[in-house]
Amino acid sequence: MNELVFSGIQPTGNLHLGNYLGAIKNWVALQHKYRSIFCIVDMHAITVPQNPAELLHNVRLTAATYIACGIDPEKNIIFAQSSVPGHAELAWILGCSTPMGWLNRMTQFKDKVNTSKLELKDELKKIKANLNEYHEAFFLMRSKKARALASIKKSTDELESLIEDQNKVEKAELGLFSYPVLMAADILLYKTTHVPVGEDQKQHLELARDVAGAFNRQFKTEYFPIPEPMMADWTSARVMSLRDGMKKMSKSEESDYSRINLTDDANAIRLKIQKAKTDTERSVTKNLGERPEARNLLNIYCALANIKVGQEVWADNYSGLSNRWGGFGDFKKALADAVVSAIAPISTEIHRVMNDTSYIDSILKSGAEKAGAIAEKNMREIKRLVGFPVV
Ligand code: TYM
Repeated sequence: MNELVFSGIQPTGNLHLGNYLGAIKNWVALQHKYRSIFCIVDMHAITVPQNPAELLHNVRLTAATYIACGIDPEKNIIFAQSSVPGHAELAWILGCSTPMGWLNRMTQFKDKVNTSKLELKDELKKIKANLNEYHEAFFLMRSKKARALASIKKSTDELESLIEDQNKVEKAELGLFSYPVLMAADILLYKTTHVPVGEDQKQHLELARDVAGAFNRQFKTEYFPIPEPMMADWTSARVMSLRDGMKKMSKSEESDYSRINLTDDANAIRLKIQKAKTDTERSVTKNLGERPEARNLLNIYCALANIKVGQEVWADNYSGLSNRWGGFGDFKKALADAVVSAIAPISTEIHRVMNDTSYIDSILKSGAEKAGAIAEKNMREIKRLVGFPVV
């Protein structure tokens, strides 16, 4: 069976504990079972403006992080997406069989430009209703008229901000919109069968599956395998911010205290965990369904300590761990120990590897050659299917 693993990370800064638990930790295990390709998706990174010198630094930093986490560059392919032209070529071909409606549904795009036409329509409806009310109010008491005016004012303010959001869509770059097609191309270019990612990439992966199906149907072929997602255990698949248990841990979050960077040293890690948001409940493990911050910290602990628990158990009151800690002080100390012992050695290794840029560049070069050879062969076959001359 021609099974192949492909995954990638955007080189937009330090990688963090979410990237590690949601993706890289899984890759490290998979590399022994599958042929694996781990990409640094720099073409995805430029969907938002990047400083060129920083981008190059971050590409190297991401490669160093893969290696420091335990990805073997001899056994697997590590390379930068922009070094293999097939990604952009295939993205164009796939874009020609992807309906815009599919891309419109992507929540990540919506989150980034923050809008929805439907909301605008609803808002207009509300204003009309309010205007009617205003009209009627002329014939009624003065106080009602005042209230009607206030509510119209509120609706128009809301409309104004929605129109502003609409402008953001008009200004949003094409690359940001078509990003999921490039991601589908990354995966399909190598005829990937398995894609290990965190939960936030699930929707993009479903699109990649749909795009593969659309191409196969259009060209009456079974050329592209339909790629299977491989999610980490649920305690790791969605690591949340240390400042807000409802937001995912992310490179773009402003406060550095919201995340554990894989480059953080033991002191920084301990400080961040000590400052991590909790709540006023004394017990660490009670009523976790209503306590996103406590739940997140416990999930991180379980992921690192390899404690397997069912999701339904958390929503309730998980008693299995309840006797372990007297309170958050105790628990946070155990959590900090677990994070330090997993991350501090990685951090040291990243700094060591980063000292040797020529080593990293040589890995990227040989990775690009190996990936390029597979991509070139596949692109010739894909071009033949499409009807392009293969010279
Ligand atoms: P990116 O760079 O945002 O994230 C890289 C990987 O880390 C996972 N991840 C998380 N997992 C758990 N908790 C979190 N808080 C968290 N934050 C990030 C992501 O799920 C991902 O697995 N579009 C992709 C990159 C990409 C790709 C691909 C992935 C481009 N082409 C092809 C797989 C296959 C992205 O932006 O990931």
